[in-house]
Amino acid sequence: MDQPATAHGPDQPLCPRVPHMLYGGDYNPEQWPEDVWREDARAMREAGVNLVSVGIFSWAQLESRPGEYNFGWLDRVLAILHEHSIAVDLATATASPPPWLAHRHPESLPVTADGVTLSPGGRQHYCPSSSAYREAAGALTRAIANRYKDHPALAMWHINNEYGCHVSACYCDASAAAFRRWLAERYGDIDKLNDAWGTAFWSQRYDQWDEILPPRRAPTFSNPTQQLDFYRFSSDALLALFDMERDILREITPDVPITTNFMNFFKPLDYWKWAKHEDIVTNDSYPDPFDPEAHIHYAAMAHDLMRSLGGGRSWFMMEQTPSAVNWRPQNALKRPGQMRLWSMQAVAHGADGILMFQWRAAKAGAEKFHGGMLPHVGTENSRVWREVVELGHDLQRLDDLMGARTPAQVAILLDWESWWGLELDSKPSASLRLYDQVYSYYRELYAANVAVDFVEPGADLAGYKLVLAPNLYMARGGIAADLESFVAGGGTLVMSFFSGIVDERDHILLGGYPAPFRKVLGLRVEEFEPIAPGETNGLIVPGVSGSAAFACDQWRDEITLDGAEAVANFASDYYAGHPAVTRHRFGEGTAYYLGTRPDASFMRWLLDRAYADASVAPSATSPAGVEVTRRIHGETRYLFVLNHNTHEVQFTLPGPARDLLTGADSPPTIRLAPYGVAVLREQV
Ligand code: GLA
Repeated sequence: MDQPATAHGPDQPLCPRVPHMLYGGDYNPEQWPEDVWREDARAMREAGVNLVSVGIFSWAQLESRPGEYNFGWLDRVLAILHEHSIAVDLATATASPPPWLAHRHPESLPVTADGVTLSPGGRQHYCPSSSAYREAAGALTRAIANRYKDHPALAMWHINNEYGCHVSACYCDASAAAFRRWLAERYGDIDKLNDAWGTAFWSQRYDQWDEILPPRRAPTFSNPTQQLDFYRFSSDALLALFDMERDILREITPDVPITTNFMNFFKPLDYWKWAKHEDIVTNDSYPDPFDPEAHIHYAAMAHDLMRSLGGGRSWFMMEQTPSAVNWRPQNALKRPGQMRLWSMQAVAHGADGILMFQWRAAKAGAEKFHGGMLPHVGTENSRVWREVVELGHDLQRLDDLMGARTPAQVAILLDWESWWGLELDSKPSASLRLYDQVYSYYRELYAANVAVDFVEPGADLAGYKLVLAPNLYMARGGIAADLESFVAGGGTLVMSFFSGIVDERDHILLGGYPAPFRKVLGLRVEEFEPIAPGETNGLIVPGVSGSAAFACDQWRDEITLDGAEAVANFASDYYAGHPAVTRHRFGEGTAYYLGTRPDASFMRWLLDRAYADASVAPSATSPAGVEVTRRIHGETRYLFVLNHNTHEVQFTLPGPARDLLTGADSPPTIRLAPYGVAVLREQV
């Protein structure tokens, strides 16, 4: 496993050259005349900015012709920033190749599964397996690293940008050749591939490696294992590009931390694997202000994933908009106070810095209607600017929080490979989406202020009391044995339907579903089917509700109990009275199984039982819409109270505390304005 250049622990800042909460944004000075740059730096100081990402989309400016570098302008920008004590997260500038690359190397352009070549004119128009792109990107990275390796403003490297955002896989001939090399390494021998891909089916047997193609558009369903391996290959192909740049940077500047910005629950890239290759996890966060639950799934849940990807270490937000984005069909403004609230929410979930896209709102190009910290209107009479300055000053009061951890007793199992497998075609239901299933759990944990980590298969579960396994379709990496010993040792497990169905080759695990988990769950599933779209069934809880108090939809398993007891039975159809949700005492622990998708009220009811079984304690009980989280630094405990409501709320603190944002002792009951925030140091 790759070791981070900076193993930041509780006492070390994320970025040693900026020992503060990080604050800033993407800075694209190449879009502006030079006389604006000094004004930019002055305004950055006013806002408390201490770190900016520079050069992300400047390849064409830095290398206007192959091998002809123009670093003069970047030298001058970095000098001005340094003069103003603003550090730089310097980009390798490889995210958008200049027009000359495609002109000279049209084969470097990406091709879709339908055979359409994507043209230059936007960005990210490169095939991950293109040798022309790889060589040019490597040369540019080396030139930038050599030029700026000793620059005093250099604090961090920003490799590429949002890998896979627009082109996560390419189906061209170069990609086909790279896919074959990847397969040869994985299987060694073509018979092993034939076996893994089940090519005895539909006359798909391969005789030679050269016959193999990416899963391009075919007359009907492509081979599922071919599709699954192509997901694996495509994530690895982009990771190999990242590693290529990272290795150059490590060689030239071994002490400068390296990151690339992630995109929340981004299905195409296996972020568990990726996060181990970088020093700092960073994320781009764009919740939609029109979505009333955006602060839960697109923010809190994604923030928890980022903290978990780094093994619990701090991460930081690389991008958010101060106001609106430009890329949705309708682009809402963040409400007054909402940018501050959502920024503090990221800090509450483990972020040690907030950066935005972008510093100065563009006046030309596709993103000219995207918000900027310094908006089109300027700094005078600007709500956005006032909020940007206020946030900068708030963050300056929170340096003590750097490195503080988020203790969680609950873990959600998330496996990218299982996710890919689950959502491949030709399944009992085409509407199963892992993200939605994960969210159906997360939403209730969030409402109860229960802290949660995400974990990958193979993770050490010993520190958790409750493990949730939403639709773990693929059982791999010893997960069945791990869950058995977790429950046997006293842990509580909640697993949902269509788990443990296949192995890592997408081959069915025979003998009754969910074969590897039957023992721990104490049951057997003989058949399953979707509940017709738009229809629901009822759930009857014996001893609690005589008639159906809860509803369920989407799926139903035909469960035979084998040691487990029924917690709820289906209310209607020919399977009325059959178990829908079960509970099994196993060793010292308990395993629940959901053979359907229950409604939110049942999920809440069931999780309450699971918390009780597992002795899980929430951070606090709070009014609806008020989020309460904790970070801990040694003996010191920090409490975040976040009011996501559009009305004022009151919240009584668990004990005496100091308000870090005001610097004063807090009253026992605090009043939070709409979108109000309190960050408190609890006094023990
Ligand atoms: C992404 C990109 C940025 C910018 C923003 C706009 O996060 O990384 O370059 O395009 O989206 O929201």
